[in-house]
Amino acid sequence: MNNKAQCIAPINIAVLKYWGKLSDEDMLPCNPSVSFTLSTEAIYTETCVRLVEPTNGVTFCLNGDRTDMSPRMLKVLNRFVPNLNNIGLEILSVNSFPSSSGMASSASGMCSLVMCLDRLFATKHSSEVLAEIARLGSGSACRSIFGGVVLWDRLDTRQLFSPSHWPELRCLILVLSGEKKIVSSTMGMKRTMETSDLFSQRLNKMDEKRTDFVAAIASKNFACFAKLVMKESNQLHAVCMDSFPPIHYLNDASCSVINQVHALNEDKIIAAYTFDAGPNAFIFTLQENLNKIQEAFKQHQQIVCSIGTGPHFID
Ligand code: DP6
Repeated sequence: MNNKAQCIAPINIAVLKYWGKLSDEDMLPCNPSVSFTLSTEAIYTETCVRLVEPTNGVTFCLNGDRTDMSPRMLKVLNRFVPNLNNIGLEILSVNSFPSSSGMASSASGMCSLVMCLDRLFATKHSSEVLAEIARLGSGSACRSIFGGVVLWDRLDTRQLFSPSHWPELRCLILVLSGEKKIVSSTMGMKRTMETSDLFSQRLNKMDEKRTDFVAAIASKNFACFAKLVMKESNQLHAVCMDSFPPIHYLNDASCSVINQVHALNEDKIIAAYTFDAGPNAFIFTLQENLNKIQEAFKQHQQIVCSIGTGPHFID
């Protein structure tokens, strides 16, 4: 057994969004979600887990700061080490982007942790089992275990399309704010489930939407895909607004980006925005239109991603 494992894990951006849990304990989602795993040149979490003297206990450093482990993180660790009192582990995790700003750092963080633990303890779990464990840390983390286009539906997480299925597709991230979000996804979805009247109507349509997304991605019909992506993002933020008290993840800059994308799409649909539980914009476009889109948003910090292959180890 090696005494160290080190992994780089991607973020994933959902086009069909997970929002709401059937069970908090098992982290079972209310609806299916579909995501794109992004390439890791610029945006990723790097985690290193090292075995140390048992007297040192288990320590966790996030972006250089000693941090308490959340109950969910402990649950993930327990799947590999049932008794944490008898072991020494040093966990160092660094995000290449602002933590907790709606840029899915919990997904890449939990994914990289699970990958490291599997290697360190030579458990050799299948990707499906690793996704199940990552889900206990943060729901959306299960999708980062796989590359390409990924489906998560209750207990089932799997790749729908390989990373090379749509090679011209790009995701341009506009960093509109690096601040910590006020309402976490966990709290936000709980509030929506408890207070939104619109939420049940959303859930009734999710299976149908999943079929539509799969068909649009399979045929690589960008205009059709883009409309579905934007409408789904708008609906997520509409149910957030319908929650009580309302949850505002978008800021003025996010709303300007939405308007600007619609202006750019006036003659032909060339871009699609989507937002998670934060103000930063994820814009899908094709390589042939990337320069035009980048130019239109040149005042914002930008990160260009393609569709990624999933987590990888650093030896
Ligand atoms: C809006 O996976 O961060 O990004 O399971 O409570 O940790 P927990 O929530 P999290 O929620 C992600 C919500 C979303 C949509 C998505 O990624 O599907």
